[in-house]
Amino acid sequence: MNSVSPLFPEQASTIAPQVDALYFFLIGVTVVFTGLIATAMCVFAYKYRRRTESDVGEPIHSSLVLEIVWTVIPFLIAMAIFGWSASIYFQIVHPPAETLEIYAVGKRWMWKFQHIDGQREINELHLPASRAVKLTMSSEDVIHDVFVPAFRVKADAIPGRYTSIWFTPTTPGEYHLFCAEYCGTRHSGMIGKVVVMKPHDYQQWLQGGDTEGSLADRGRRLFQELACVSCHSTEGSGRGPTLQGVFGSQVSLSNGTTVTADDNYIRESILRPQVKLVAGYQPQMPTFQGLVDEEGLMALLEYVKSMQKTATPQP
Ligand code: CUA
Repeated sequence: MNSVSPLFPEQASTIAPQVDALYFFLIGVTVVFTGLIATAMCVFAYKYRRRTESDVGEPIHSSLVLEIVWTVIPFLIAMAIFGWSASIYFQIVHPPAETLEIYAVGKRWMWKFQHIDGQREINELHLPASRAVKLTMSSEDVIHDVFVPAFRVKADAIPGRYTSIWFTPTTPGEYHLFCAEYCGTRHSGMIGKVVVMKPHDYQQWLQGGDTEGSLADRGRRLFQELACVSCHSTEGSGRGPTLQGVFGSQVSLSNGTTVTADDNYIRESILRPQVKLVAGYQPQMPTFQGLVDEEGLMALLEYVKSMQKTATPQP
């Protein structure tokens, strides 16, 4: 057990010790100042108590030095807390360049996970140890929230857009997974477990199970079923722009602005194609709202990303 105290979950990610250090510092500062103030109150209440009926208090002369000291010290402590927590926050919100990407969909009342290689899980998430993992999340109904106390990570899964968190599990084992946003009658039952495995065991685990093909393969099949391919050809001769190499690129829009083609842009372009129309194209694409579910969207997104990976340089 990697736990700092029986009151705390074990530390099973690289960020956990840092979050705990900050947390204990905050508790320490709170305890010290609570103690100081309570002691001063008792001491002064006794020292300056009313001794006789005719006692009159003495006038107080202010002290500039005292005022400065008790302003500057708390200011420095507050700034230290700000600087420290901001640096941890930046680490938590900026995933490294190379991560294992996993998709998560919250749904009343379960978690659905999809691995890039094709494995799907419900309320269980298998991960390799010592590798940075990025969860890209969405919700099919209301706001849910992925919370893994042992990793000290927590983030909302919001309907209608993608959010993400990343972490690096350090220790093989099983950890609790909670929904941390009240989402209806069975919110308390929306729990699961994260199984962190040795990298080799994880590779073996990936081989097992159903063989539906990779997530990008499912996306490619959906791309054909929905007839996206009839307009979005690979060589760019169709009525819509080619999607080859689109992901991560800068896209010029018909209103003269430019956007980065990220997860949320691809998602919006499938569901509400007219909102950000690519420059030079007619607003002909129908909406796919209601025709593709969250898992389908993630498969399509992964397919678009895979076209990026196999992109060949233009002649
Ligand atoms: Cu989902 Cu609470």
